[in-house]
Amino acid sequence: MYFLGIDTSTTSSKALLIDETGNVVAVASSPHTLQTPKPLWSEQDPNEWWDAVVASIKSVLEKAGVNEDQVRAVGLTGQMHGLVLLDEVGNVLRPAILWNDQRTQSQCDEIHQLIGREKFIQITGNVALTGFTAPKILWVKENEPEIFSRTRHILLPKDYIRYKLTNEYAMDKADGAGTVLFDLKARDWSDEVLAALDIPRAWMPRTFEGTEITGYIPEEVASFTGLKAGTPVIAGGGDQAAGAVGMGVVEPGIVGLTVGTSGVVFATTPSALIEPDGRLHAFCHAVPGMWHFMGVMLSAAGSLQWYRDTLAPDVSFDDLLKDAESIPAGSEGLQFLPYLSGERTPHPDPLARGAFIGLTLRHSRAHMTRVVLEGVAFGLKDSFTLIQNAGLGEIKQVRASGGGTKSVLWRQILASVLEAELVTVNTTEGGAYGAALLAGVGAGAWGSVAEACSACIKITGSTQPAPSDVEAYRKSYSVYRELYPALNLSFAKM
Ligand code: XUL
Repeated sequence: MYFLGIDTSTTSSKALLIDETGNVVAVASSPHTLQTPKPLWSEQDPNEWWDAVVASIKSVLEKAGVNEDQVRAVGLTGQMHGLVLLDEVGNVLRPAILWNDQRTQSQCDEIHQLIGREKFIQITGNVALTGFTAPKILWVKENEPEIFSRTRHILLPKDYIRYKLTNEYAMDKADGAGTVLFDLKARDWSDEVLAALDIPRAWMPRTFEGTEITGYIPEEVASFTGLKAGTPVIAGGGDQAAGAVGMGVVEPGIVGLTVGTSGVVFATTPSALIEPDGRLHAFCHAVPGMWHFMGVMLSAAGSLQWYRDTLAPDVSFDDLLKDAESIPAGSEGLQFLPYLSGERTPHPDPLARGAFIGLTLRHSRAHMTRVVLEGVAFGLKDSFTLIQNAGLGEIKQVRASGGGTKSVLWRQILASVLEAELVTVNTTEGGAYGAALLAGVGAGAWGSVAEACSACIKITGSTQPAPSDVEAYRKSYSVYRELYPALNLSFAKM
């Protein structure tokens, strides 16, 4: 008995097969291209996702050598917030506008004006940010009225794949909340917000809890994917919620820390808690009946990637990081602001910029490398602190994942900056793995998401804060906190 997780991310579509003990049997991935036709724009062709998904499904089944009868359920995940518009008969009307597209600041302001910022936070749990889906819909309405007039269905990237796999218009509640058109407490579309923004309710799909069945593979899809007709497709969740399931961040007290291109601090909440100023995202979890807080930093390991590619393209990451080990905590007064793609948490500002601040003749490349790691850790501490102060109770464990946390030095810096023990787990496949677990729960292999996680996910390592560094980081972090407020007006003018 096998379960298939499919992750349509920004860079690729991945298919991952697990067995009923949670072992990863095979993984296959096919790349996507990204278009940036104008400054601030970020788009993809949904048909390219579908081709990549079909190729990955075929390839993973072939690699694993399993026959179609053995795959009992499919679970879906993918990049969140992206807007897919379909016409009456399900044709794609324009390229999808992605989560990292920054064109919609004026539509965000308009949403706050129409509904009232406080009220919008009370209903949806969030402020309107350029990354989210609702302002993208208004942008199309205002700038491409011809496309808007032909729109009949609104989906997110993963749910376009669901539509192609099952012919059903459906969405999971975790990703639904990320449109900011949800009544967070009710875990469904807010009639009030939809009416205020003049978005027809009929365009929005039915929403499902993460482990519910949303449809079945029809004959014609079975014929070219290699899946069996009648295989159930489970709701799954957006990549952050499914990724949290994939590392066992499914109960209050366990916080997830992901250092990928973006950086995420994720905490499960047992009720629809809201950060009163909307500084944390508050969405539904992929775990039925649970919610979560999330702080998102847009350039985490992405900052290190940019730094290496731009300033030391011929040096390996290992060599760069090795040099940085000898630099004392706090990088001798140097600071790095990681806002290379603007920022979300805690400064929702598409115009924020990255910076090295405090350079002197004494500072070497090794200092600059180290301070990139420290600046990202400070940015994550901003989210971590908001979560600590959000009334959730004690944080018992921080589970680290993502490419950045493979570095021993970065894990050490993160533990000392956050002043918390970081643990690593045996699962490293993120959202695709979580989607496969959700499929397994949906198919009845485990009684609940928590049961699936405790059966399949094990702690593999631990990093404690270094007592000798904690004080230096506290001092350095207090300076870091002063820099964005001192510079944001200049950033806007730049
Ligand atoms: C979360 C977010 C990103 C995308 C990236 O709010 O925008 O994690 O989902 O795939």
